[in-house]
Amino acid sequence: MAEMLSLRGVVAGYGAGDVLQGVDVTVQSESVTCIVGPNGAGKSTVLRAVSGLLRPSAGSIEFKQRDICRSSPAEILSLGISQVPQSDGLFANLTVRENVLMGAYIVRRERKLVERRLAEVGELFPLVSERGEERAGNLSGGQRRQVEFARSLMLDPTLVMLDEPSVGLDPKALKVVAGAFQRMVEAGKTLLVIEQNVRFGLRMATQGVVMESGRVLMEDRADAVLENPEMTDLFFGGTATAAPQAPAKG
Ligand SMILES: Nc1ncnc2c1ncn2[C@@H]1O[C@H](COP(=O)(O)OP(=O)(O)OP(=O)(O)O)[C@@H](O)[C@H]1O
Ligand SMILES: [Mg+2]
Repeated sequence: MAEMLSLRGVVAGYGAGDVLQGVDVTVQSESVTCIVGPNGAGKSTVLRAVSGLLRPSAGSIEFKQRDICRSSPAEILSLGISQVPQSDGLFANLTVRENVLMGAYIVRRERKLVERRLAEVGELFPLVSERGEERAGNLSGGQRRQVEFARSLMLDPTLVMLDEPSVGLDPKALKVVAGAFQRMVEAGKTLLVIEQNVRFGLRMATQGVVMESGRVLMEDRADAVLENPEMTDLFFGGTATAAPQAPAKG
């Protein structure tokens, strides 16, 4: 597997001090890399640095061996990196199709291309073609998430970054989301996902990254991270929603 994205010693913040304190993360082509970590660890900040919304004060970010540290968000998008943001970003009053088309805004004048892309994402997410004329606000949480994924694919990115895609979803919708990830990978996409549901995230990922206080504590195969006893202490000390039930005594 080739290296698609690499962050080396990335330092970045919002003015009041550095949030990222020298972050190293590697994302291999056609993998699913999942970043986990407590609130405020800097996970979303990593995605902001990669998408060009935040300029690192030190370190390097390379996408397909090309330095993107000084590239604008628009350049980074057109190089093939798209992002699905943390909160539900659909326009409830617009149709599914209209929402998906927003993902192709910068190429909107290339009608043929847009139609082709719409057909492609419709194949990956049949909901987009089947319920294209419905208002996005009428869909369930899992369905809305699929529309967001479809929108993020309209520029045919190679790397899709998703910030907490499972938030607020019930177990059935989680399955839908996991299936959607699999289909995106089969379609040749590389995924960088942030998850607050540690078990869900690391089970569907190939690689795992653990962050805390602006640093990477661990980077390994996802199953190795999940089984690491230190991770159990960090995440399953009672707060994680998917923590295993203790066997009943007696
Ligand atoms: N726009 C901003 N301006 C100033 N500080 C910010 C901004 N966004 C985030 N921060 C701070 O940066 C730190 C890391 O935030 P970040 O959003 O990257 O964490 P996170 O790991 O994504 O957390 P969560 O799990 O809550 O989403 C936090 O201390 C946060 O308060
Ligand atoms: Mg976040």
